[in-house]
Amino acid sequence: MATPGVSAVAPVPMNDLSMQHATIRKDIDEAIADVIGSCGFILGPRVKAFEEAYARYCGVKHCVGVSNGTDALILTLRALGVGPGDEVITTPYTFGATAEAICHVGARPVFVDVEDHHLCLDPALVAAAITERTKVILPVHIYGHPADIIALRQIAERHDIDVIEDAAQAQGARQGQATAGSMGRAGCFSFYPGKNLGAYGDAGGITTDDDALATHLRTLRNHGMPLAGPKFHYDELGYNNRMDGLQGAVLGVKLPHLEGWNERRRQIAQRYAELLAGVGDLRLPAEAIGARHVYHLYTVRTQQRDGLAEFLHGVGISTAVMYPLPLHLTDAYAFIGDGEGAHPVSEEACRRILSLPIFPEMADDTVDYVADQVCAFFAL
Ligand SMILES: Cc1ncc(COP(=O)(O)O)c(C=O)c1O
Repeated sequence: MATPGVSAVAPVPMNDLSMQHATIRKDIDEAIADVIGSCGFILGPRVKAFEEAYARYCGVKHCVGVSNGTDALILTLRALGVGPGDEVITTPYTFGATAEAICHVGARPVFVDVEDHHLCLDPALVAAAITERTKVILPVHIYGHPADIIALRQIAERHDIDVIEDAAQAQGARQGQATAGSMGRAGCFSFYPGKNLGAYGDAGGITTDDDALATHLRTLRNHGMPLAGPKFHYDELGYNNRMDGLQGAVLGVKLPHLEGWNERRRQIAQRYAELLAGVGDLRLPAEAIGARHVYHLYTVRTQQRDGLAEFLHGVGISTAVMYPLPLHLTDAYAFIGDGEGAHPVSEEACRRILSLPIFPEMADDTVDYVADQVCAFFAL
C-alpha cells in the first residue's frame, strides 16, 4: 500500500534501464548469444554492423567504434594533431571528460562561457578567445540540445581551425536537417548505459565524413597498427581503444529504437512544459529555432534549487544536479587560472539547475506526479 501523501507511482528514479531492457530482452539475448557463439569479442561483425548503421543514422560516411566517449575525444584530438602548445576552446559547463581529453593530449583547454538560453558554448565569446595557438573549437551539446554549430563553424572557417562536437549527450539531436555528429569535422559520442543510446557497459564512437581521419582513427584505436598490411607492424603510437563485440551487438539492437525513444523524451518534455509553465520562478528548458532537443536531461532552473530537490526527495522523486560546479572552479582545473566570476553564466547555472526524471519508459501519470509535486513545492 502506498504511503499516505506519496503516490503509487513513487519512487521515481532519474532513469530506469531495467524497464527499457524488458522491452528488448529477447533481441538482446539473441545478439549477445551470437557474439559469444562466434567469439567476436573485440570489434568483429557486430561492431562493424553498428558502425555502418550509426554512420547512416547520423548522415555521415564513417563511424569508428571505440571504448568510451572520453577515448573518442582523446583519439579525435590526437588524430587531428592536437598536442602540446595547442589550445582548444571549450565550455566549462560540461562533464569533466571534455576538458580532460584536451589535457590528456597535452593541449590546454581555454574555457569560454555558455549562452544563457541553452547553456551551450557562446559563439559571441568564442571569437575573442581565439589565438594563433587555437587548433579546435569543442562545443558540447549539453543535455541533448545542439550548440549553435552554424555560428561556431563560421568562426572556425575564418580561422582555418576545426570544430569537433562533443555529442556524448545528444544522440539524434538535430539542427535543421543536420544530425549531431555530422555538423563538425568529427562528432564524439559516449554510449554509456544511461545515454539516450546506451550500451551495456562502456562504449563510444566517432563520426566523420573525412575518409583519411576515419582510417587514422581506426589505426589509433588499435595500437597504431595499419588496417592493411602485415600484423604487428606499428605506424605510430596508438591505444587500446576498441569497442567490444558485446557492446556493438547491444547498440545494434537498440539503434532502431532511438528515434522512438527520443520522440517519447520530447513528449515528456512537452508535458512538463505544459504542467510547469509559470510555476514559481522556474525556468524551463527551451529549444532554439530549428533545433531538435533530445532531452537526455530535463533541467530546470530556480533560485530554490536545494529546497526543491529536498522536497522532491521527500516524496520519492529522484533529481540530479549536473553539474554542481563549472570545470574552471574544480580543483583539477585550478591551473588554468580562471577564478570565480570568470564565466558567470556557467557559475550561475550551476547554482540554479535541477534535472527532473526523464526516460522513454516513464508513464504519463509518473510525469504528472513529478509535475504536481513541483507545483506543490512552489505553492507552500
Ligand atoms: C559531455 C560529455 N562528454 C564526454 C563524456 C564521456 O563519455 P564516457 O563516460 O563514455 O567516457 C560524457 C559522459 O557522460 C559526457 O557527458
